[in-house]
Amino acid sequence: MKKVLVIGCLNMDYSVTASRFPKPGETLLGESVKISAGGKGATQAYTVGKLGGRAAMIGYVGEDFQGQQLIDNLASVGVDVSGVSAYPGEVTGQAFITIDSSSGQNHIVAVGGANARVDRRAVDDHRAMFEEADIILMQHEIPVDTVYYAKELALELGKTVIIDPGPAFPDLREDFFRGVTYAKPNETELAILTGINTDTMEGIEKGAARMLEMGVEHVIVSLGGRGCYVADRSGSRLIEAIPVKAVDTTAAGDSFIAAFALALSAGRSEDEAIAYAQAVASISVTRKGAQASIPEPEELAAKGFVFS
Ligand code: RIB
Repeated sequence: MKKVLVIGCLNMDYSVTASRFPKPGETLLGESVKISAGGKGATQAYTVGKLGGRAAMIGYVGEDFQGQQLIDNLASVGVDVSGVSAYPGEVTGQAFITIDSSSGQNHIVAVGGANARVDRRAVDDHRAMFEEADIILMQHEIPVDTVYYAKELALELGKTVIIDPGPAFPDLREDFFRGVTYAKPNETELAILTGINTDTMEGIEKGAARMLEMGVEHVIVSLGGRGCYVADRSGSRLIEAIPVKAVDTTAAGDSFIAAFALALSAGRSEDEAIAYAQAVASISVTRKGAQASIPEPEELAAKGFVFS
């Protein structure tokens, strides 16, 4: 099994469930509140670890008890947390999530705290972790300059680079995605990254083609309940989702891309990795929370997914 290194954010998630999203200026009565471990980066590292892969993480938490809880949660599933430390004087990243209980869809506002401190020096300080890893997995909740710098180092070292470009930013430097092995935007992120309207399938195809022009080798556009659109220079295809009743989609993308990376690390093909990723994400959305929603490896084994 190869090693997956995640460089990214760690957040404590404050999730409130309501019967629908509030309108601007409206006060709505919520149904429940859950405070739990999240953050795109941490949830991805946690997923790889929990499902039996070899995972390591680089990131910062704040000098507070939430930060230690997040580190402990990663360590509990075997993630190498030697690259995660408390940034002096900072608070742990926090995400405020509203979930529509009728659809499981969410709105997220994340406040970076220590995540905003993950800079080029954090990459340089942990160069040995890059050298030891095979797959580098990143997102955009740390400064994008750091993502770019880490990508360049990873490519120089001959690693597989996977970027989950959320949150998406327009006008990234021209070579930002050059050489990236896999990028996995959702349709909203794809529109922001490319400036192309992705409301239709034709728009999604154009957006994915634009990502290939930007230098990505393979694009996986996650389309929620519709599945995912996969494109590279040899062709494209739409892969249908596994139908489920979603309760909370918070970790859908994170569990998907982490499981995909894990399956690649176990030597599986792209199609096999997507099938596994869909199975993991389809279970995750039926449960509340980010890391709390990641299934046990036995649940995947029951569906025929076993890595050894
Ligand atoms: O992708 C979901 C995650 O985004 C949440 O856990 C939240 O912390 C934000 O990082």
